[in-house]
Parts: sequence; C-alpha cells; structure tokens
Amino acid sequence: MLLLLLLLLLVLLLLASCDAALTCLCPNPANQILVKQSPLLVVNNNAVNLTCKYTHNIHSKEFRASLYKGVDSAVEVCSVSGNFSHKLQFLSNTGFNCDGNLDNETVTFYLKNLYVNQTDIYFCNIEVMYPPPYKGNQKSNGTIIHVKENHLCPVPASPESSKPFWILVVVGGVLTFYSLLVTVAFCVCWMESKKTRMLQSDYMNMTPRRPGPTRKHYQPYAPTRDFAAYRS
Ligand SMILES: *[C@@H]1O[C@H](CO)[C@@H](O)[C@H](O)[C@H]1NC(C)=O
Ligand SMILES: *[C@@H]1O[C@H](CO)[C@@H](O)[C@H](O)[C@H]1NC(C)=O
Ligand SMILES: *[C@@H]1O[C@H](CO)[C@@H](O)[C@H](O)[C@H]1NC(C)=O
Ligand SMILES: *[C@@H]1O[C@H](CO)[C@@H](O)[C@H](O)[C@H]1NC(C)=O
Ligand SMILES: *[C@@H]1O[C@H](CO)[C@@H](O)[C@H](O)[C@H]1NC(C)=O
Repeated sequence: MLLLLLLLLLVLLLLASCDAALTCLCPNPANQILVKQSPLLVVNNNAVNLTCKYTHNIHSKEFRASLYKGVDSAVEVCSVSGNFSHKLQFLSNTGFNCDGNLDNETVTFYLKNLYVNQTDIYFCNIEVMYPPPYKGNQKSNGTIIHVKENHLCPVPASPESSKPFWILVVVGGVLTFYSLLVTVAFCVCWMESKKTRMLQSDYMNMTPRRPGPTRKHYQPYAPTRDFAAYRS
C-alpha cells in the first residue's frame, strides 16, 4: 500500500518535471514579443511615466500598444494604435488622464491625476497587426504603481488647523463650566441671603410684639396698693 503511494508520488513528480522541461524546451513562439517594464514605481505627485520596452521594432508596423490595470488585466488604462506615418494619439476609455510617447522599441505612458486607490499592478501590452503574421506579447511581469498620499498640503495642515479648534473647544468648555458654576453659586448665595433676610424680617416682626409682654411685666407694678388704706 505504502509502496503504491510512493510510486504514485514518483510518477506525479516525473510528470511535473516533464511539464517543466517541455515549457523550457519551447520558451516563446516566434510570434511572441517580450515586454520589459520596471517592477516598481513609487508615485509622489500623482503623476508617473511608465516605459514599456519591447523586443520588437514597431517602426513601420501597424500596431496597438496598451496598458492594463490589475492582476487579471481587467481595466484598459490607456492605448495607442496606428502606425508611425500618422500622428499617434494616446486614449483612455476608462477615465485615466493619459498621454505618452513612443519610439522604435518603447512606448511610454504618461499618467496623471492618479488616486491612492489606483495603486495596483499594471501590464504593458503590444499587438502587431500588420504586416503579417500577427504578433502578440507574452504577459509581462508588470509594474506595481504605488500611488502615495500627497502630503504637500492637506495632511500637515489638518493637525495645525485642528489644534486651535481643540484649544477653543477646551477653553469654551472651561468657560461654560465656570460660568455655570458662578451662576449656581450666585443663585445659592442669593437664595441663602433671601432666606436669612426672611428670617430676619420674621424676627423684626416679632420684636414689636415684645413691648406687650414687657408691659405685662410692668403690670404687677401698676396697681400699687395703698397698704396704708388697709391699715386705717
Ligand atoms: C520576470 O520575472 C521572472 C521571475 O522572477 C524573471 O526570471 C524574468 O527575467 C522577468 N522578466 C523580465 C522581462 O524582467
Ligand atoms: C513624463 O515625461 C514627460 C516628457 O518627457 C515629462 O514632461 C513629465 O514631467 C514626466 N513626468 C513624470 C512624472 O516623470
Ligand atoms: C497608417 O494608418 C493609416 C490610418 O489607419 C492608414 O491609412 C495608412 O495606410 C497606414 N500606413 C501604413 C504605412 O501602414
Ligand atoms: C527605427 O527603425 C527604423 C526601421 O527599422 C530605422 O530606419 C530607424 O533608424 C530606427 N530609428 C531609431 C531611432 O532607432
Ligand atoms: C478612489 O478615490 C477617489 C478620490 O479619493 C474617489 O473619487 C473614487 O471614487 C475612488 N474609487 C474607488 C474605486 O474607490
């Protein structure tokens, strides 16, 4: 059983190596153009020039050169087609700001106004339509275009502009709290003083009544008895 498994593994390995050997034996057909492009471009001001170098002279040929975005090359970013005897125009059908330049073996795409979220891998493509035979290119290794956030104005400006804002918020909060405190304290003081004033006025109302009991106090002295009258 184990031997069988090992045999199977060996056969699989042999098949794999055969596959590799086969692809190595026939590298790229005669009608395949190879494309060289730099592996990584870091973009700081939202503009980049991407050069595609072909192993084929496209001078005096009818061709179409294009640039694709994404691992699956789903988006055609920009393309140029025609021949050297006519002024060639770079066009984008997907909203990219694109222009470019070309010579016999290279096509350079000028991309502008790139967004950070357009950071992706980009593939150069070339097709030669005329004269026959038709030639295409082996898929290139691609260029990773890394679009960096433009730090020139928005990012350093925001912390500096937000600082005074937070200072204002804090000062405003403290002032509000302070004024609230003062108001409450004033109210408490006022009510307290009102209470004491009321108490004081109560006492004041009571004081005039005092002569009553004092007069009563004097009363025992009022009927001064004439003891001499009893004696007589
Ligand atoms: C593409 O990548 C492979 C493997 O990393 C490398 O051998 C090859 O030279 C590259 N091709 C180009 C055109 O740079
Ligand atoms: C791209 O190339 C053009 C023409 O040479 C040049 O004017 C432009 O500044 C370049 N742009 C970048 C981002 O290098
Ligand atoms: C170049 O292209 C134009 C328009 O597509 C065509 O009329 C012309 O014949 C072409 N020239 C050559 C030399 O292929
Ligand atoms: C471009 O290719 C054409 C045709 O092969 C040749 O006559 C011309 O000298 C080349 N130009 C450059 C700048 O290499
Ligand atoms: C990419 O970013 C830009 C601006 O930052 C925005 O307008 C656009 O909708 C974004 N695109 C995607 C696919 O998220």
